[in-house]
Parts: sequence; C-alpha cells; structure tokens
Amino acid sequence: MTNPSALLPVPTHVAIIMDGNGRWAKQRGLPRIEGHRRGVESVRTVLDAARAIGIPVVTLYAFSVENWRRPEDEVGGLMDLLETFLGREKSSLLKNNVRLRAIGRIEALPSRAQAALRDTIAATAHCTAQTLVLALNYGARTEVLDAARDYAAAVVAGTASLDDTASWEGFARHLYTRDLPDPDLVIRTSGETRVSNFLLLQAAYAEFVFTPVLWPDFGRAELEAAVADYRRRERRFGQTGEQVTLSPALAPTII
Ligand code: FPP
Repeated sequence: MTNPSALLPVPTHVAIIMDGNGRWAKQRGLPRIEGHRRGVESVRTVLDAARAIGIPVVTLYAFSVENWRRPEDEVGGLMDLLETFLGREKSSLLKNNVRLRAIGRIEALPSRAQAALRDTIAATAHCTAQTLVLALNYGARTEVLDAARDYAAAVVAGTASLDDTASWEGFARHLYTRDLPDPDLVIRTSGETRVSNFLLLQAAYAEFVFTPVLWPDFGRAELEAAVADYRRRERRFGQTGEQVTLSPALAPTII
C-alpha cells in the first residue's frame, strides 16, 4: 500500500532468497554450477550495494535443508563455492568492517566448509559496520524444532522458565536469529512467489518484493529498485492506516 505522506526509512534488515541460478545457466547451455558461480558474483555486487545504500543487516539464503536432495555433484559444487567464497572474502569483510554470521544446522555441513565458516565468523566477530548472515543448511521448521529443544533444555537446566513463553521475545531468544533484528524486506528473485521455509517467523511483518530477474542478473540497480519499492509502502503491524500515519513510531502490535 502507498503512503503518500512519507517514505519509510532504508530497511535495517534485508533477507534474500537467491533463486534462478539453474535457469540462468540453462538459458546459456551451461552446467548448473556455472549459474551458481555467477550467483556468487551477484553476492559480491549486492553486498557492496547494500553497504552503499546503508542496509546494516543482509541475510542470504544460500543452502536450505531441502537442497541436500539435489544431485550430489551440485551439492558438492555449492559447498566448494562456499569455501572459496569465504576464503576470498575474508579480507574484504574485514576491510569493510563486516561481521559474518551463519544460521542453520552448521554442524552438518562438510568439515572444510564448516572450518572456513567458523574461521571467518571468528575473525570478523568484532566488526560493526554491517552484518552478513548466511543461511546454510537452514529451514524455518528445523529452526523451530531446534529452538524448542534449546528452550526445553534451558528449562530443565534452570536457566529458562516456563514464563518465558508468555511473550514472543522470551521464545525468540532460542531461535538462531536471537541477536538479529527481524527482516524488514524479503526479496525473492526469478519470478517464483514462494517463501520456501525461509525465516517464516521472523518475516511475520516483513514486506516482500518478488522480481522476475534471475539471481545472476540481480545487481545494484535491482537492489536499489527493491528498496525504493519497500520505502513507498505503509507498514501497519496490525494497526489502522490512520494510527500509523499519526504515530509511525508505535511498536509493532501483534494481532
Ligand atoms: C537457487 O537457484 C540457488 C541456490 C539453491 C543456491 C544459492 C547459492 C549461491 C548464489 C552461490 C553460493 C552462495 C554463497 C554465499 C557462496 P536454483 O539453482 O534453484 O535455480 P533454478 O530454480 O533456476 O534451478
């Protein structure tokens, strides 16, 4: 919905479902892994653009819990790309003061990818300008199961109480994203209009932008267009449009 009176601020957290690498490759008669390789270039471009726009947190859906079902060589290729990306990107993350985080069942990734990930996360832990979150072996339903288990274990250990679930914030402390703001904007490329088990709870009040552009063709102009689209919207958080216009700073109200 359009808010004629004011633009929303630049989103604090943009989460992206990077889709269309396979189709990009197929259109060119290339193997699927070439699409993923080109997709890594888009990751670099988009991270630079997000920094220039002033987006503090970017989450990228790089590998879902369902992606293990892909052909073995594609899964292996994606893990190799991840490892190479982390090796090459570490110095640039440090130079740009970017903290790396990962969400998902990281312990199930191949050991070399895991080691590269843990190394870069530790090396950039002190960085404060921007946070890059990689969703790896991630699924929202798996996240809820892990959070419920973590919460139950904390209750048994006496470090959490049953009263914690009286508020969403109490339970959210057990999600992978416990130290991250909710996404304001979720972008999905390639024309698909599904959420695919991505940040289902955190995106409860997010705005969505679906673009037909395939991920390898998604660059700075496309990110700027998605952010501009977002900024023209009106976020209501369960309130009326009039309430939001009168008091735009009101905290989100759960319906
Ligand atoms: C979806 O396209 C994309 C993925 C499942 C993987 C995304 C991975 C990358 C962009 C590269 C690795 C990322 C990092 C951060 C190193 P698809 O293959 O489903 O495309 P299709 O729907 O056209 O087949």
